[in-house]
Amino acid sequence: MDNFVFNSPTKFVFGKETENQVGDLLKSYNAKKVLIHYGTGSIKRSGLFDRVVESIAAQSIDYIELGGVVPNPRDTLVYEGIDLCKKEKVDFILAVGGGSVIDSAKAIAAGALYDGDFWDFWDKKQEITEALKVGVILTIPAAGSEGSNSSVITKTDGMLKRGLNCEIYRPTFAIINPELTYTLPAYQTAAGIIDMMSHILERYLTKSKNVILVDRLAEGTLVSIIEAARVVMKEPTNYEARATICWASTIAHNGFLGVGRISDWATHRLEHELSALYDVTHGAGLAVMFPAYMRYTIMEDIQRYRRFAIKVFGIKDNKHKPIKVATAGINALESFFKEIGMPTSFKEIGANGEDIPKLVEKLRINVGERVGNFKSLTMEDAENIYHIACK
Ligand code: NZQ
Ligand code: ZN
Repeated sequence: MDNFVFNSPTKFVFGKETENQVGDLLKSYNAKKVLIHYGTGSIKRSGLFDRVVESIAAQSIDYIELGGVVPNPRDTLVYEGIDLCKKEKVDFILAVGGGSVIDSAKAIAAGALYDGDFWDFWDKKQEITEALKVGVILTIPAAGSEGSNSSVITKTDGMLKRGLNCEIYRPTFAIINPELTYTLPAYQTAAGIIDMMSHILERYLTKSKNVILVDRLAEGTLVSIIEAARVVMKEPTNYEARATICWASTIAHNGFLGVGRISDWATHRLEHELSALYDVTHGAGLAVMFPAYMRYTIMEDIQRYRRFAIKVFGIKDNKHKPIKVATAGINALESFFKEIGMPTSFKEIGANGEDIPKLVEKLRINVGERVGNFKSLTMEDAENIYHIACK
């Protein structure tokens, strides 16, 4: 096990009707003026917005609102949010939504206390030294941004999608009520499931040694997600299955399953270029890229892939034929993605093989000549993986 620091300072408030505690929570952090940040309407249609406002007003806390965050959130709304926070002297941002809303809130939180262009941070020209506090009411278990140190923003000029990790804007609190996820369209539920599984797999695929404790936690979480996913896709209002998926999403990405090892993250980088170019749902892009990545890197550590097949998908072991066992595991993962209605090829997400040079070029702008740690991929490797996904 490698040395590590595990920092998950977020207070998680989990369970039925917990969104009604938001006023109390904001009060406990001494919030005076709150920006309620949200997406394109689901929270208004479901009545969640009204309940949130009622809870905040009951504590006599002042608030303003800024909606309109789109999936793969854009810098343009971040600029608007920053101006609003400065003008209105906002001291706390409440993100009500999923990864896109939370990421946009984190970027606004950093930009609101900075005199320059917030993109300086995403461009790595400046480091974030302070940010407004961010609280979350989660409506879709997927990105794990409610507990993560990361924010992924797309610069509209050139459609450059870029992530930034920073401990300062990890959410102060996150309210997670699985009932709020009942209204999710099946496609978003499935895409979220793939995103959280991918966050675990990015950490599971490691060259670090002696990581058996976290391997077992990761395998157990993956098995639990797969079981709950099968229930949720048939019964969208099954509370226990939704609850499993919700908590799995958070622990998949708050660092808990990544301690003591070097994580990979190549597949996420490859996918971000797909969602930047085609505005595809992140989880759907991952469903296309992960099996392709795994097939390409299978010989990097055949025993790890063999273990994954046995422990997560119950593939029958055969010590003499590890490649066969490992391949069966990757095939089972891909079949599961299909089973829950996700795409697994370029064609299904409207991507085009002719764009591969463009994808690789944008990847190079974002990451340089190499990406990933499980296998340090060259840009030629990246191109080959895109071709496998294009099959
Ligand atoms: O905009 P609204 O109307 O709210 O609709 C949203 C949106 O269309 C809808 N939705 C959310 N909750 C709902 C609901 N519809 C009905 N009922 C509900 N309860 O779902 C759609 C997708 O929302 P979004 O926030 O985009 O989903 P997700 O959580 O998957 O976030 C994706 C973004 O997060 C980034 C992705 O790249 C992408 O930009 N990521 C962020 C990470 C992080 N910060 O740690 C890590 C991830 O790897 C990921 O890259
Ligand atoms: Zn992700």
